[in-house]
Amino acid sequence: MKEITILDKKFVEFIPENDIHKRVGEIAYKINQDYKGKDVVFIGILNGAFLFAADLFRRIDLPARITFVKLASYTGTKSSGSIKELIGWNEDVKGKSVIIVEDIVDTGHTLERIVDEMKIRKVTDVKIAAALFKPDAYTKTIPIDYVGFKIPNNFVVGYGLDYDGYGRNLPSIYSLIH
Ligand code: IMP
Repeated sequence: MKEITILDKKFVEFIPENDIHKRVGEIAYKINQDYKGKDVVFIGILNGAFLFAADLFRRIDLPARITFVKLASYTGTKSSGSIKELIGWNEDVKGKSVIIVEDIVDTGHTLERIVDEMKIRKVTDVKIAAALFKPDAYTKTIPIDYVGFKIPNNFVVGYGLDYDGYGRNLPSIYSLIH
């Protein structure tokens, strides 16, 4: 078992690079079938989705566009706490088919915020592609249409995902050792 250390924590290899590569190919194949004849806009959610989005997008053979947005937390003036603002938006998605590309869906808060935004922007339809999905942590009802791997509710790094900013460059996915 391949073990690594990032800062103060130890991780063990959980999903090898080859398995990820193969699965991303399968998802791309499915999307190419599902969207045949359609014009699609992919929206990658930064920072975590940059590798998955790149790997997926290069296997898409549709007339497709891609853009990236980031959710910035900022503390509002209300005492209700922090709210998230979508930044980096530069694409007109009105009347388009959109695929949201996420690194991981955990509680689903991020996803819900973005799907709400898509509705405001009047997209024709929106689907979700997530490299990883933690069903046991998910608190929403929005279906995750394209899932790379369903994983247990444990912290993971690699393939775009970080621990305190580190680990995003690991080509495989690693799971925290408790
Ligand atoms: P959610 O809003 O709870 O679904 O969380 C989504 C975001 O939390 C992801 O886009 C990640 O950036 C981060 N996240 C959730 N779980 C993990 C994990 O296991 N490792 C690293 N980041 C995670």
